[in-house]
Amino acid sequence: MPCKTDAAAIHRLISECPPLDLNSVYTYLLLSEHFPQTCILSGSGDTFDGFVSGYIPPGRPETLFVWQVAVHERARGQGLARSMLSQLLQRPGLGAVQYIETTVGPDNAASRGMFAGLARQLSAPIHEEPCFQPALFGAESHEDEPLLRIGPFGAA
Ligand SMILES: CC(C)(COP(=O)(O)OP(=O)(O)OC[C@H]1O[C@@H](n2cnc3c(N)ncnc32)[C@H](O)[C@@H]1OP(=O)(O)O)[C@@H](O)C(=O)NCCC(=O)NCCS
Repeated sequence: MPCKTDAAAIHRLISECPPLDLNSVYTYLLLSEHFPQTCILSGSGDTFDGFVSGYIPPGRPETLFVWQVAVHERARGQGLARSMLSQLLQRPGLGAVQYIETTVGPDNAASRGMFAGLARQLSAPIHEEPCFQPALFGAESHEDEPLLRIGPFGAA
């Protein structure tokens, strides 16, 4: 679980994992301080190889929303992203989770491959629907962010 002293290093990791949006250090402080149970960090010292941020949307204890998944280039292709997501789902306190939701750009093949693999592992169907269209980002140029919903687990 991340803690607030990790936030600056998490920020650096995310900056090295395009195409992820780089949020402020303050955002990673908030995630570490208020949502450590639904975030997971891999590595040691101030050098981290992987980070997943997520939260349980208010009033929806059956759903884990996964915000960012980052694995540094040096650690990719070894199952780290999959392992972090699996470990999150095994945490005490997340036993009611039956769905994972996330948004993934249409061109992010790595992310789509990762979530498709997770759905297979969980024997769960994947449903995709529109969510955050480019116009919602205002003047910022941003690709479409459709919603992927994986679950219920064990139903496929
Ligand atoms: C996406 C990312 C997190 C994957 O991390 P990883 O540790 O290399 O992934 P894993 O080794 O755990 O692989 C998990 C699955 O994803 C698939 N995958 C990983 N990289 C892939 C790629 N470039 N293209 C297609 N599939 C890929 C793997 O084949 C594996 O599939 P399987 O479950 O069927 O075996 C990593 O590439 C990354 O940080 N990318 C940049 C940031 C990003 O796009 N994050 C996701 C947006 S939320």
